[in-house]
Amino acid sequence: MKREVIIACDFDDPVKLFDFLDLFRDKKPFVKIGMELFYGNGPSIVREIKRRGHKIFLDLKLHDIPNTVHKSMCKLAELNVDMVNVHAAGSVAMMEAAARALKEKNSNAVLLAVTQLTSTTEEVMNKELWIDHKMEETVLHYAMNAKKAGCQGVVCSPLEAGIVKEACGEDFLTVTPGIRFADDDKGDQKRVTTPAKAKELGSSYIVVGRSITASADPVAAYERACQEFEED
Ligand code: C5P
Repeated sequence: MKREVIIACDFDDPVKLFDFLDLFRDKKPFVKIGMELFYGNGPSIVREIKRRGHKIFLDLKLHDIPNTVHKSMCKLAELNVDMVNVHAAGSVAMMEAAARALKEKNSNAVLLAVTQLTSTTEEVMNKELWIDHKMEETVLHYAMNAKKAGCQGVVCSPLEAGIVKEACGEDFLTVTPGIRFADDDKGDQKRVTTPAKAKELGSSYIVVGRSITASADPVAAYERACQEFEED
């Protein structure tokens, strides 16, 4: 299976986003567009990025009652993005509703479920969220629910990619944020690994944000991530 780097374009301003994408000239990296751009600028920004030739992971992490998620996913399907996601915590019925919406709309978008955010520690999960299990067990359980519901993969930490693949199969995608180069600052991410380590651990895609977007040379940082992660 082909591994790919996705750049998390967590800009809140379209001018900054397009200035950033222009740096890449004819290279068209796979980009992840999050809530801040979408809520601020709406579907038109997604259409414009698509028009420029990028693949898009629209990271809106839907989490609501199944009926609302179904109707929302029908709308997102019209945007022709390449990847969308929901929170696995929303239930199997909610994930099924999302999968059904994509099918009804004949969308080829890959549906992922977020297991646990990579900023969440096991301590927060146990003491604050009252999920009384180990992080690995929780991620695995949520991944199996996602598979049952018809998702093609999960968003998880690279640290859990191996066990997810073992339980859900080689073809089940593991899309993993929480990536830092060996010489980077971790920021608010708690469970991080390098692109090379993510490859070793079984990630299908890595999502890299600040290590590329905040770098002095984003194109060089992107190429470094591709080299470490994509090359055999
Ligand atoms: O800048 P950084 O590389 O930490 O960005 C990681 C990106 O991945 C952010 O856009 C964040 O919202 C997203 N993400 C995450 N953990 C998840 C799901 C998504 O960090 N479990």
